[in-house]
Amino acid sequence: MANLQTTYLGMPIKNPLVAGASPLSQQLDLAKQLEDSGVGALVMYSLFEEEITHDSLELDYFLNRGTETQPEAQTYLVEPSKIVTSGDRYLEQLRRLKDALEIPVIASLNGSTRGGWISLAREIEAAGADALELNIYSVRADPSLTSDLIEKTYTTLVHEVSSSIHIPVAIKLSPFFTTLPQLFSRFEKAGAAGLVLFNRFMQPDIDIETLEVNTRARLSSPSDLTLPVRWIALESPRVNVDFALSGGVHSATEMIKGIMAGAKVTQVVSKFLKNGVQSAMGMLRELNGWMDAHDYSSIDMLHGVMAEDRVGEATAYERANYLKALRNYQEKFV
Ligand SMILES: Cc1cc2nc3c(=O)[nH]c(=O)nc-3n(C[C@H](O)[C@H](O)[C@H](O)COP(=O)(O)O)c2cc1C
Repeated sequence: MANLQTTYLGMPIKNPLVAGASPLSQQLDLAKQLEDSGVGALVMYSLFEEEITHDSLELDYFLNRGTETQPEAQTYLVEPSKIVTSGDRYLEQLRRLKDALEIPVIASLNGSTRGGWISLAREIEAAGADALELNIYSVRADPSLTSDLIEKTYTTLVHEVSSSIHIPVAIKLSPFFTTLPQLFSRFEKAGAAGLVLFNRFMQPDIDIETLEVNTRARLSSPSDLTLPVRWIALESPRVNVDFALSGGVHSATEMIKGIMAGAKVTQVVSKFLKNGVQSAMGMLRELNGWMDAHDYSSIDMLHGVMAEDRVGEATAYERANYLKALRNYQEKFV
């Protein structure tokens, strides 16, 4: 049996299969089943800024409402200490997960503004999270914002959060930035310990009958893997952080590709939502079988063997491949 042990964000983990951020972590029994099925670590669903803002607006309204009416109305007001906000619920779930599980639990914050993220990050650390994933998820549609300003704002956020807590911080981002290599370097300098490639926007779709815009979560397929694989293969030899691949991992084959490209771990969500959390067992069995059959005795041996610096062709993951792919395609039909 191959040795599947590895490290991620400085933490030893028993294997590189990580349950990615999803509603699965909202239920303790499902999280426990994920652990029992063998996953090496669990990322919690994200706590979103909008939820906190919404809660605090509601709280303000709630607390101020009675002050303009009769004095006795004050007695109907709930004590602030008894009001449970999304932030409180999130921290409580984190504590419950930490009590119930032995694997590392990585919390996730959706940070797009500087606001209260530092205090939330500190509370998450105090509640026992082993690491924090900062989920940079927002569509910047304002035409007056320059790419440099957007990237600087995110970099400042990363710096402020990672220098305020002692647990490692990984940044999960989308591929829609002007210059990913530049941004990765900025994040590394700002203190990020890891990069999670990539987040998945919930793309809006138009219903032509009802004239409504639907935003439904679409599950991935293995064909989604090529984008994160390319960027991890290109950037893992250059940027000194741990890369996690997120997007399109449905079997050991995609795990192997991700690790070969240079990912320390591969995160899985769609597969578990589609086929159940127990499918982790089959993936790990398959990974072990493949490694034994190909004489890889450890994950370390597999790590980065197909990263750009190791494939021997400097531009393999860049433009040259585009030309080659087009030529090969034409040759088939001409
Ligand atoms: C229903 C659903 C909920 C998700 N919730 C979160 C979330 O709260 N935070 C986050 O960073 N990513 C979230 N994601 C994105 C996943 O963590 C993951 O990045 C994405 O689904 C790609 O991985 P996959 O191909 O294994 O599904 C969610 C995805 C789905 C399908």
